[in-house]
Amino acid sequence: MKCSKRSLSLVALTATMLLAACGDEDATTEKQTSSQETSKQQVEKQKTEVTTEKKVEEKRDAGGYIIDQKPATEVKKVNGIVIANKRYPMPGDYAPGESKEARTAFEKLNAFAKKSGYTFNAFSTYRSYERQTVLYENYKAKDGQKAADRYSARPGFSEHQTGLAFDIGDANVPNDFASNRFGETEAGKWLAENAHKYGFIMRYPNDKEDVTGYMYESWHFRYVGVDIATKIYNDGSTLEEYLGMEG
Ligand code: DAL
Ligand code: ZN
Repeated sequence: MKCSKRSLSLVALTATMLLAACGDEDATTEKQTSSQETSKQQVEKQKTEVTTEKKVEEKRDAGGYIIDQKPATEVKKVNGIVIANKRYPMPGDYAPGESKEARTAFEKLNAFAKKSGYTFNAFSTYRSYERQTVLYENYKAKDGQKAADRYSARPGFSEHQTGLAFDIGDANVPNDFASNRFGETEAGKWLAENAHKYGFIMRYPNDKEDVTGYMYESWHFRYVGVDIATKIYNDGSTLEEYLGMEG
């Protein structure tokens, strides 16, 4: 252990160091610690600045959409899972069509449902950006923007544009399509309890509007695959909660 003049003067500064054989290493450690603290503080400061910036950047309008959000240039995916919600829009030209995997899963679900006496109809699945524009504008004209934003996605934000969302109803009761009356029926209850077995989750459950951004929709199901659907079903959660994402 080498004792230099510099280290000895540092040793004199603290009682603990006086007890040490030589203060050089301790002083160096202390210096490093203090410089580490400085960089830690800097990181924290940067984090705070980023968080503040993010918050300012992500100010939402009355409908829950980020104000002045730049148009999306790509689809948001987390661990390969496509996410489309008020926070994560899709490019207008994203047009994958209906997912073949989701359609096959729906057909299997329907075959299973038949054994219990139910026949389902997927009355709306893939919707293009243009189709969603027409729907949203109609709803807005009918109910006003504030109400429409609670049940209809603005163009570019609808999960139907991913080709993975299936609006499902009782094939024998078309009057209940896109109505929460469906959720009250035996068929609707059966679907809510069994859809996950074929990879579908009820995407906008009751009492989760603050998480998903949309009112309860007993008919809107999203294909995520059996494993994830089962986890989400068992947890009573949502895709946003499962992925730890904002809605
Ligand atoms: N009804 C759902 C939120 C949509 O428009 O995509
Ligand atoms: Zn839907």
